[in-house]
Amino acid sequence: MPPISSSKPFLDVLSGHRQPIPPVWMMRQAGRYLPEYRELRTKAGSFLDLCFTPEYAAEVTLQPIRRFNFDAAIIFSDILVVPHALGRAVRFEIGEGPRLDPLDTPDKIAALATQADFAKLEPVYEALRRVRGELDPNIALIGFCGAPWTVATYMVAGQGTPDQAPARMMAYRHPDAFADIIDVLVENSIQYLLGQLKAGADALQIFDTWAGVLPPREFERWSIEPTRRIVAGVRAKMPGAKIIGFPRGAGALLPAYVEATGVDAVSIDWAAEPSLIRERVQSRVAVQGNLDPLALIAGGGALDRAIDDVLTNYAGGRLIFNLGHGILPETPIAHVEQMLKRVRAYKG
Ligand code: CP3
Repeated sequence: MPPISSSKPFLDVLSGHRQPIPPVWMMRQAGRYLPEYRELRTKAGSFLDLCFTPEYAAEVTLQPIRRFNFDAAIIFSDILVVPHALGRAVRFEIGEGPRLDPLDTPDKIAALATQADFAKLEPVYEALRRVRGELDPNIALIGFCGAPWTVATYMVAGQGTPDQAPARMMAYRHPDAFADIIDVLVENSIQYLLGQLKAGADALQIFDTWAGVLPPREFERWSIEPTRRIVAGVRAKMPGAKIIGFPRGAGALLPAYVEATGVDAVSIDWAAEPSLIRERVQSRVAVQGNLDPLALIAGGGALDRAIDDVLTNYAGGRLIFNLGHGILPETPIAHVEQMLKRVRAYKG
C-alpha cells in the first residue's frame, strides 16, 4: 500500500510511518552559511551570548525555516552548554572552535560538580517556548544534547582534536575517573532533555560526533551504554519521547547501537554502507541522512547524483532526508534550494 502523506511528516516517520516525500532538515541549518545568521551573530557579541539570549536564539532557529520551510527546526544552542552549566569555563574563539578548561586529571574530575545549575539553561527553555509559539504547528521542533562521550572528549582535552586522543587515553588509564564524568553527563543530560521537552520540543537528538574513534569494546561502554541510559531515563518520565541518535562514524557497529539504545531513529554519515543500513538498521528504526556536505558545496550534477543516491538507497523505507554531518559555512544558498527542490519532487 502506498504511504499516505501526512501534515506532520517528520514526527510520523519517527512514529513508524514512511512518507512518500521524505521530510527534510539539515544539521547546523542555523549557521554561518546564512547572511542573516552572520548579522545576528555579530550583533550578539559572543557565541554563548547568542545561545543564551532567548530572543536571538529563537530568531536564529527560525531563520532557515522562513527561507526554506524545512520540516523540522532545531533549537539554536550548543552541546557545550551542559559543561557550562556544570561550572566548567567554556568559550568559543572566532575561527578556532570551543575552548574549555581541561579536565585532565583524576583530581580535577573528583572536584567536578554532580548537579548542573539549570538556571543557566533557562534561556534555552525560554527560546524553545518562543519558537514553539511562532512555528507552524506542522513543523517539528527538535531539542538536543551531546552524547556523554562526545561532550567528555571536549571537557577532557579542553578543545577539539583530530582524534580526541586525550579522552581516549583518560578512558584507558583512569577508567573509573572517566566513568565519573560520563555518569555526571548522563544524569544531567536526562534532566536537560526533559526540560527541553517540557519547554516545547517535539523530538530530541543526541549528537555523538566522536563515536567513530572508539574500538568496539570502548564504543559499547562509552557510546552505547550512556546513550541507552539517557534514552531510558527520558522515557521513564516521558514514555513516548521520540529520540534520534547520531553516533557519527559508527559504521558496522550501528546495528548494535540501535538495538541496545532504543532510539527511534539513527542519523547516518555519508560513509554508511547502504545494504547494511537497509537490512540491519532501517528494518528496525527510521534513518536520517546522509548527503555529503561537500556535495552540497559542489552543486550541479554531482549534487543531483548524490541526492538521488540517498533517495534510491533509503527512501523506500522510513527516511528523514538530512546531511551526513553539519552544513559547512561556505555552502551556497542556491545549492540548498536545489537540494530541497529535488527531494520534494521525489515520487516514491
Ligand atoms: O542548527 C543547528 O544544528 C543547531 C545548533 C547547533 C550548534 N552546534 C551551533 C553551533 C548544534 C546542534 C550544535 C551541536 C554541536 N556542537 C556538536 C555536535 C554536532 C556536530 O556538528 O558535530 C559539536 C561537536 C559541537 C561543539 C562545537 N560548537 C564545535 C566543535 C564548534 C566549532 C566548529 C564550528 O563549526 O565552528 C561549535 C561552534 C558552533 N556551534 C557554531 C554553531 C552555529 C559556529 C560558531 C559561530 O557561529 O561562530
